[in-house]
Amino acid sequence: MHESRPGGPRRLPGPGAQVGRARSGTVLDVKVAIPTELVRGESRVAVTPDTVAKLTAAGAEVVVEAGAGERAHLGDLALAEAGATIAPTAAACWEAAAVICKVQPPTAAEVERVPKGAVLISFLPLSTPADVVRQLAAREVTAFSFEQIPRISRAQSMDALSSQASLAGYKAVLVAAERLPKILPLQMTAAGTIPPARVLVMGAGVAGLQAIATARRLGAVVEATDVRAAAQDEVRSLGATFVEMPLPPQEGSGGYAAAQSDEFLQRQREIVAARVAAADIVITTAAIPGRRAPVLVTRAMAQGMRPGSVIVDLAADTGGNCELTSPGEEVSVGGVTVVGWRNMAATVPTTASQVLARNAANLLLLLVHEGALTPDFDDEVVGQSCVLRAGQVVEPRWRAQLEEAAAP
Ligand SMILES: NC(=O)c1ccc[n+]([C@@H]2O[C@H](COP(=O)([O-])OP(=O)(O)OC[C@H]3O[C@@H](n4cnc5c(N)ncnc54)[C@H](O)[C@@H]3O)[C@@H](O)[C@H]2O)c1
Repeated sequence: MHESRPGGPRRLPGPGAQVGRARSGTVLDVKVAIPTELVRGESRVAVTPDTVAKLTAAGAEVVVEAGAGERAHLGDLALAEAGATIAPTAAACWEAAAVICKVQPPTAAEVERVPKGAVLISFLPLSTPADVVRQLAAREVTAFSFEQIPRISRAQSMDALSSQASLAGYKAVLVAAERLPKILPLQMTAAGTIPPARVLVMGAGVAGLQAIATARRLGAVVEATDVRAAAQDEVRSLGATFVEMPLPPQEGSGGYAAAQSDEFLQRQREIVAARVAAADIVITTAAIPGRRAPVLVTRAMAQGMRPGSVIVDLAADTGGNCELTSPGEEVSVGGVTVVGWRNMAATVPTTASQVLARNAANLLLLLVHEGALTPDFDDEVVGQSCVLRAGQVVEPRWRAQLEEAAAP
């Protein structure tokens, strides 16, 4: 069981400040806590035996709440054997932690447990409730958000958006294939030729490219569409056909798409309607950071698909790319199945935790210099992913929301 450290966690009073104490010049002597995820349906955990070994080798004491990894089939015994301390209660896990690694943002109840001055590493979407942000600020927390990690080569090992999106793209195809009343590959049989299923992937980013690769491996004929010019070659390199659109590319910043006008989306829908109607499976992944997902498949387009067809909408979390999507649910309309599950990566919790825990550990170790937790905020990855710095809200959109709420 964990014994709390004298003095508890250190604070980050300002630039270049230190969190946690160095036992020697090279060993990170801090408590890293990994609590059980409380959000319904969340089966992932931000630790694995592999990351316990990595962090304890760096000197940290890794404290995992009992049962935290159970839903990902990462048992207490395996974590303890790798060097973790198993805390019998949530209170013992959170108490005096200098760093907390989580999957979901803390809930209103969890935020009460965050020790003053601690470092938090987790998903922290712009939609994180303002009360939670305020509480984290009041506790002088320094928080790093997976959503804000820059999409650059050096940050790939910390890029949890990508690691989870890739798994979601893979699983979306399996979910669709399982529901489709057909097989995917072409088969030449004694009873004649069975044509391959047709898969349309809308949005060829991280999830979409993995969906294309998976559908191709299963033998489907795959088409894909995107609004970024760079996506064309990536789609073709995976053996899929790129659906050309005589429309200007919609490039945003940081490798993302720009928000599109209603007129653009209307034209796009007219162009791709025939491809949707011809498809057995449509996987939609189109997203614009910080905005509602664009509607790519209207009710009429979905109902124009053959009975038995399947749509898996990976944008369900941000409203969905299909008008028939009911976020969190699976519905059947006129014989077309529409899967709008949230958090698809959590349906493969062991793999999702393996990569997510590595992303978290790599980000944490990036904050360590000569055995001390001294984030270099001038580092592009550290500076951009930091959303709260010693209680100061540095994410501009959060700050604007809080200022607006506080205005008379
Ligand atoms: N480390 C890196 O270098 C790195 C890591 C991850 C991603 N990236 C880049 O960022 C890109 C996008 O990342 P993401 O997958 O997280 O993006 P995302 O989840 O924000 O969006 C998914 C895809 O939907 C597309 N989209 C948006 N509106 C659309 C529309 N109307 N029709 C069709 N498609 C539409 C986007 O262009 C994107 O490809 C990647 O493909 C890659 O180029 C780079």
